[in-house]
Amino acid sequence: MKCARLAVAIAVSIAVFAAANATNVLAADASLDYDYYKSRVEPIFLTRRPGHARCATCHVDANNAFKLQKMSVKKDVAWSEEESRKNFTLASSLVTPGNPDKSHLLMYPLAPEAGGSTYHSGGRQFDTKNDADWKTIAAWVNGAKLKPAAEKK
Ligand code: HEC
Repeated sequence: MKCARLAVAIAVSIAVFAAANATNVLAADASLDYDYYKSRVEPIFLTRRPGHARCATCHVDANNAFKLQKMSVKKDVAWSEEESRKNFTLASSLVTPGNPDKSHLLMYPLAPEAGGSTYHSGGRQFDTKNDADWKTIAAWVNGAKLKPAAEKK
């Protein structure tokens, strides 16, 4: 009896240990890069897409989970560094690193025919996963980084 309990306890600790390790590996493979976010992803939220309002128009100070900061310095044009950092934290919480298809930020505004959500009040901002902006956000989710300045020519 005692022995069986011990065996269960050991099995549980092994499972917990394995799960913790798996999470570490994932995080290391696809960490979310702030510089890439700031220069490539965030501008998408400010750009008007044909036939649609800008993400920022509805999502600044929104009452849903995708709540972007108010632009205090350059109103409606750009976020300050501090505001972008907060947006980064928020956007990061809406994605699954390494898995664009499990990322709310990407699936919500995607057309249902392409696998996205039927319910987005902000419309089908991305018709397919081949949309250039969709791909940019997906690359960020997959761990894309900006090249260090020295490598740019
Ligand atoms: C016309 C207004 C509007 C625009 C433009 C818009 N959205 Fe939305 N979005 C909403 C509303 C309202 C919701 C709340 C849920 C709903 O009603 O769909 C929402 C929900 C979301 C959610 C889910 C948040 C949650 O609660 O989990 C995400 C992610 C999102 N939008 C991303 C975007 C992105 C990215 C863009 C731009 C490419 C965008 N939205 C453009 C109105 C908009």
